[in-house]
Amino acid sequence: MKREFIIAGNWKMNKTVEESIDFVKELDNKIEVNDRVKVLIFPPFTSIYSIRNLSDKIKIGSQNLFYEEKGAYTGEISPLMLKNLVDYVLIGHSERRGIFKELDSDINKKIKTALKYKFNPVLCIGETLEQRKEGETFERIKKQIDEDLKGLKEQEIKSIIIAYEPIWAIGTGETATPAQAQEVHGFIRELLNEKVENPEDIFILYGGSVKPENSFDLLSQKDINGALIGGASLKIDSFSAIIEISCKIAK
Ligand code: 13P
Repeated sequence: MKREFIIAGNWKMNKTVEESIDFVKELDNKIEVNDRVKVLIFPPFTSIYSIRNLSDKIKIGSQNLFYEEKGAYTGEISPLMLKNLVDYVLIGHSERRGIFKELDSDINKKIKTALKYKFNPVLCIGETLEQRKEGETFERIKKQIDEDLKGLKEQEIKSIIIAYEPIWAIGTGETATPAQAQEVHGFIRELLNEKVENPEDIFILYGGSVKPENSFDLLSQKDINGALIGGASLKIDSFSAIIEISCKIAK
């Protein structure tokens, strides 16, 4: 089976403009990519403009996007402001859901807005530790997929990238085992199969304490099409090592 990957770094609230510029220049020098591996960075909003054209190998995305174009929405970011600056937008990250109380209904509106403005949405879903312990993982994932993708046409769903990020594995150093991740990725693929033809074309990324040491085993799973990386994407050595590993598996 053809293997292609998206290796994405979510910088969260890290790096000044200067640090972002230095990082992208250094990463560009260091990595070799092929057409089966796409490298993406989600920097803070303040860095997007300065780094967007620094590298042909690295695509830039936004960590969020609001569903209105303009108005009295202090602290939010409009699709019009991001247009022509980024190709990708992260939607529904667990930190947006948890800390900033975003609901599936908000996330659904954001996805629709992203599609309207021709961005590639990266939809994040995942269960909490409590839900996993209670055996509610699949139920939770299904609810998020159904509610977040509600009302979308088949072609629209096909253009979405999904990121499965178990909340208990984010920033904790505790990664889902490759088998645990594959199990949920396989389940997501089955859910997508009910909504689209050829769900194998949809990229499903894994996120949660991905590092060079565990990336080979994770990326070798058949339904894992890439990684969404937090901590390890902040350092050139670890991020470039994961990119290198993905290039070796891609074929
Ligand atoms: P960590 O890789 O730091 O666990 O973060 C994962 C994440 O939240 C990426 O969006």
